Amino acid sequence: MDITFSLNGNPVSLTDVPPTTTLLDWLREDRQLTGTKEGCNEGDCGACTVMVTDESGTQALNGCILFLPQVNGKHVTTVEGLSAPDGTLHPAQTAMIDAHGSQCGFCTPGFVVSMASAHLNGSTDHDIQLAGNLCRCTGYAPIIRAAEAITEQPVPDHLLFLAKNTEALQPATAPAPGDTQVQPHTSDALATWYAANPDATLIAGATDVGLWVTKQFPDLGKVAFLNQCDELSGVTETATEIRIGAMTTLSDLETAIAPHHPSFAAMIRRYASVQVRNAATIGGNIANGSPIGDGPPALIALGATLHLRHGDTRRSLALEDFFIDYGKQDRAAGEFVEAITIPKQTDTLRCYKLSKRFDQDISAVCGCLSITREGDIITAARLAYGGMAGTPKRASTAEAALIGNPFTETTMQSAMAAMAQDFQPLSDMRASAGYRLKTAQNMLLRYLHEAEGHATNVSEVTS
Ligand SMILES: Cc1cc2nc3c(=O)[nH]c(=O)nc-3n(C[C@H](O)[C@H](O)[C@H](O)COP(=O)(O)OP(=O)(O)OC[C@H]3O[C@@H](n4cnc5c(N)ncnc54)[C@H](O)[C@@H]3O)c2cc1C
Ligand code: FES
Ligand code: FES
Repeated sequence: MDITFSLNGNPVSLTDVPPTTTLLDWLREDRQLTGTKEGCNEGDCGACTVMVTDESGTQALNGCILFLPQVNGKHVTTVEGLSAPDGTLHPAQTAMIDAHGSQCGFCTPGFVVSMASAHLNGSTDHDIQLAGNLCRCTGYAPIIRAAEAITEQPVPDHLLFLAKNTEALQPATAPAPGDTQVQPHTSDALATWYAANPDATLIAGATDVGLWVTKQFPDLGKVAFLNQCDELSGVTETATEIRIGAMTTLSDLETAIAPHHPSFAAMIRRYASVQVRNAATIGGNIANGSPIGDGPPALIALGATLHLRHGDTRRSLALEDFFIDYGKQDRAAGEFVEAITIPKQTDTLRCYKLSKRFDQDISAVCGCLSITREGDIITAARLAYGGMAGTPKRASTAEAALIGNPFTETTMQSAMAAMAQDFQPLSDMRASAGYRLKTAQNMLLRYLHEAEGHATNVSEVTS
């Protein structure tokens, strides 16, 4: 593929690069820019963090699971480009030295790039911004002190210049049916090409596909990168519904959904890390069919509809019906996810993500519960769970035990007992079957206690 972008302020034009070359490999092997480190090579440690700037802003991303076509037309800043052209260190670099925030130094480039990106965006929630960067020797207190120290300092001019000069560097070209590596700019162009090439792999944020490549080294054959299909991105609203484009990133979804369903937004905040949320899309989170994805249970509990497209034909189905069985979804070859819609509704959603770590961990159980009441009587219930079956799944027997009954602990206990008929969960390294069922049941009690105003924050201990 032909790719054009700017690297640390200098134009780069590449021809005929294999499309699944990761930015990290290219930086280190082709350009010998070895400041960007390879730690895990799977999006978990942040050692490979780079800053990517386009018309939507500046974001920290993991270079190890970012393919070169994903930076087409953008500015890429690595740790080598953080200091000013005259060599003046970025404030994050100076602060890390002053705060003794580095020992072996392996994680340090990733940390300073994450800090610089957060600093440019005016983000001061340092625990969140740095949760995707791991340090195994310094300890986080000095690093957080360094991040705190630069909040009032100005963004260096050379980085501001990039943020203000984001006109697309890559012209739009419509893919021809015979092309094997494409980056369509419209949903129409994608639909036509994919219908003619149904055996192709679609690549959205590559937070799943990137790992296939870095861990299993497959030849993906025909590929389509969706990241320049702007009309597949973003969240729009009408009086009755919220429409979420398939290419909407988890970061953008978090912001857009917070005013409507704050508990969903709070759960997204625990989905991986800033770097992963900046890349991962909700369409990819659904299309991958994972039984432990966090997006589908919340969307199912909200009664979401999935919109699919094949060529000129569009169809819609309830999101829960998309997941047929483990590894099997209701999606034909050549068909792709265009959008998800959620009916506007009074917010009764609570999302409970249960994992071994608070940050950056895959769910053992993800329960998303929405219970509607008239007076004290439950009139509707949608209880959707991830991690409890081979697909994201509703607890329909438990829902039936709730509907028509008073919103009390007795009703919750009977629904909890009924839930045993809904799920036969697996035991694996994340949790045993018994633990999964017990905690899924207990989420109903937590929902009741929260509604009654009791403290239920399980990550905070107060006396
Ligand atoms: C470190 C790390 C932490 C993670 N933590 C979490 C977590 O906490 N919770 C969680 O749920 N997930 C997590 N994930 C998994 C991953 O981030 C999500 O599944 C993500 O939403 C996938 O989206 P993507 O855009 O990156 O998809 P991609 O990797 O690009 O694609 C995934 C699959 O979906 C297909 N696809 C993508 N878009 C479409 C479309 N529009 N139509 C049809 N098919 C499509 C692709 O062909 C591929 O098969 C994590 C991943 C990493 C690397
Ligand atoms: S090398 Fe660990 S996140 Fe990229
Ligand atoms: S300083 Fe050694 S890993 Fe962070």
